[in-house]
Amino acid sequence: MHNITLINGDGIGPEISDAVVKILDAAGVQINWEIQTAGEDVIEKEGDPLPNRVIESIKKNKVALKAPVTTPIGKGFRSVNVRLRKELDLYANIRPCKNIEGIKTPFNNVDLVVVRENTEDVYAGVEEKIDDNEMHSIKIITRKASTRIVEYAFEYAKKYKRKTVWAVSKANICKLTDGLFLECAREVAKKYPEIEYKEILVDALCMQLVQNPSKFDVLVMPNLYGDIVSDLTAGLIGGLGVAQGANIGLNCAVFEPVHGSAPDIKGKNLANPSALLMCAIQMLKHINEFEKAENIEKALFKTIKEGRVLTKDLGGCATTTEFRDEIIKNLK
Ligand code: NAI
Repeated sequence: MHNITLINGDGIGPEISDAVVKILDAAGVQINWEIQTAGEDVIEKEGDPLPNRVIESIKKNKVALKAPVTTPIGKGFRSVNVRLRKELDLYANIRPCKNIEGIKTPFNNVDLVVVRENTEDVYAGVEEKIDDNEMHSIKIITRKASTRIVEYAFEYAKKYKRKTVWAVSKANICKLTDGLFLECAREVAKKYPEIEYKEILVDALCMQLVQNPSKFDVLVMPNLYGDIVSDLTAGLIGGLGVAQGANIGLNCAVFEPVHGSAPDIKGKNLANPSALLMCAIQMLKHINEFEKAENIEKALFKTIKEGRVLTKDLGGCATTTEFRDEIIKNLK
């Protein structure tokens, strides 16, 4: 039995969480879900969209599945997502991107993973105003953070039997910062002779991703490039409805879809639970439940490929619950 924190989010969060929990249950995965509410709905009761109990629950269970949470605009709260990443030191953002048969995209053989450093670069928030006409933002790259993210990328490649790790940078221009990132990447690569190591500049990467994405495998990069490139790669496989992600730290891992809380379709039984389900599949692999993960993945892909019961965003007219039941029917 696994103890896992479930942040069921707000907006469409509770609907898609419910679907995912029922699918995992039907697949026979033994999980004791510790449900933790967060987001808009708890602000009124607890005065904070991310009460401490949520952080404590993740620290205790070490693994969490997180549905999207609305970021209140102009209410003075920092994004729940940013706070989670900071408070749990979730230094690696992982975005696997693989074509799903049945979802039409310009390419057929995309199967890559973006590993994004999550804690520094220009996202460290070190900015200064020189005067009204000049602002500076400091790009911070450290040996510690660069080494651990590249190590994570190689360990990931090893665990999932991937062949090549590409270090992505702009070291020809940012000679000191990205230069240090590459220096660390080269050092780490020496420890993994069985995995091929390659380097590419981020601009060249973007061009090649939209021309021939199937040549890429594991891509590791600093925060800003990772933010942009991972949205590009999500677009290659069909966009928000199927884009999954994970934020991993030394002690904890939080699995969450890329899409938001979709307030426009909240409570209408229209939301597509696929992205959250794919996060749950990635989570099961993370906790070494490979067989169950693959069974659920096959059932999801079969449902999409058959194309008879699909949610509206996937071109069908099924409800969330009908789509969920079809996946359950397709489980082995
Ligand atoms: P969004 O991703 O919620 O919605 C964009 C469009 O995609 C909408 O038309 C929505 O109906 C549709 N959509 C999104 N997910 C869908 C799904 N699973 N099934 C069917 N349709 C889906 O982005 P938006 O509107 O910019 O953000 C809404 C709220 O979500 C904001 O408060 C934002 O801050 C928050 N957000 C939270 C994230 C998280 O918790 N990780 C990530 C992104 C946004």
